[in-house]
Amino acid sequence: MRQLWLLPSMLLVSLSSMGEEFLPDKVYGEQECVECHQKVSAEIMGNHRQGRHGSGSIGCSDCHGSSHNGSLARSRANRSCTQCHTDVEQRSYETSKHGVILTLEESGWDLTKPLATVSVRTPGCAYCHLSDGDHAMEPKADGDPKICGKCHSTRYLKILTSSGEAMEEVGEMKVLEAKWLLKWKGGDLTQQEQKELLDSVKRHRHNLHLGVVHHSPDFQWWHGQPALDGDLIRIRSKIAEHRWTSN
Ligand code: HEC
Ligand code: HEC
Ligand code: HEC
Ligand code: HEC
Ligand code: HEC
Repeated sequence: MRQLWLLPSMLLVSLSSMGEEFLPDKVYGEQECVECHQKVSAEIMGNHRQGRHGSGSIGCSDCHGSSHNGSLARSRANRSCTQCHTDVEQRSYETSKHGVILTLEESGWDLTKPLATVSVRTPGCAYCHLSDGDHAMEPKADGDPKICGKCHSTRYLKILTSSGEAMEEVGEMKVLEAKWLLKWKGGDLTQQEQKELLDSVKRHRHNLHLGVVHHSPDFQWWHGQPALDGDLIRIRSKIAEHRWTSN
């Protein structure tokens, strides 16, 4: 009789240890997260370690906070990324249609569920970069149907990918032209002048890349292509100016 009475309560204990109540509820230091999660989620730990963040110095608590209270919702919010990724990385996203919609609506979204179950209307940083909880954050192919296909048609994504590639190719040609001009005609310019001109080209090429992968018209058509055209004009006129003054 005594044994029979014990049975249901043992069952209860083992059930609750599988449920959410089992999440330790305390504030932890980063070292504690790592030590315990090595045991409870070894795969995530391994991926994170090898990935773009873990191989640097970014830890679990940078995105999840220092307790289990709301740790997933916190990491899925855009703020979790833009606390570090500021400037052009943030702005190229925020000036995209995705970014405009998220900025207006995110506070009303339910971020307690996995992002891939589409409880959101447009993707934020983590939706694309940590899709399916990929803690290694492998570089994502732009227009990947596994990520974008939940909301866009394959046909649309194909067109988008090929126009993105064309956009990057034109940008690359402008970089080559700038390098060619400086190498063969820029001999009269000082090293410092050459470096400044080339740095500006690289910065604007990066803007263009971000404009393409984050789908920002501003970064493609304002901070990208026209800015590179401006660089080429500046390089040509600097070269002409030096010719003029040295003749
Ligand atoms: C003493 C062990 C332990 C420590 C320390 C610990 N965790 Fe956990 N954590 C767990 C267990 C157990 C789970 C539930 C099992 C699972 O989801 O893999 C969990 C789940 C999680 C989850 C998923 C939450 C959810 O609602 O499903 C996140 C995110 C997380 N931990 C992050 C952290 C971070 C960040 C730290 C450090 C600030 C930390 N953990 C410290 C044991 C620990
Ligand atoms: C760059 C931010 C970031 C870092 C760093 C990070 N995570 Fe996460 N993690 C996330 C996001 C975002 C999700 C939710 C993904 C989703 O909804 O698809 C997540 C999900 C999880 C989950 C739930 C996974 C599941 O499949 O239910 C656990 C557990 C977890 N993280 C643990 C960790 C641990 C442990 C570390 C440190 C080794 C860590 N995370 C580092 C952003 C991060
Ligand atoms: C605590 C600061 C911090 C947080 C939080 C953070 N990151 Fe990072 N992230 C970094 C650093 C530092 C690097 C490495 C930069 C480098 O390699 O130049 C990096 C690298 C990356 C890269 C690769 C960049 C490249 O040049 O290839 C991506 C993509 C990225 N983070 C996205 C995210 C996303 C998405 C989130 C939120 C879920 C996030 N990060 C949260 C600091 C952070
Ligand atoms: C619609 C999907 C999508 C969203 C949303 C998104 N990204 Fe990206 N991002 C990409 C793709 C695709 C690339 C290029 C491939 C790669 O590096 O993974 C990229 C590249 C990057 C890079 C590397 C840039 C470089 O210098 O090469 C960083 C850093 C980054 N994103 C951060 C962010 C941050 C921060 C957010 C949110 C503010 C964000 N991303 C939102 C898809 C996205
Ligand atoms: C969770 C849903 C969702 C996901 C996932 C998603 N998008 Fe979107 N996307 C939207 C919504 C909503 C809009 C705004 C539609 C509108 O203009 O009415 C949009 C707009 C766009 C636009 C701008 C279109 C225009 O009219 O200017 C582009 C480009 C785009 N998405 C590309 C992508 C790519 C590439 C991916 C994958 C990396 C992706 N999207 C993933 C929901 C999503």
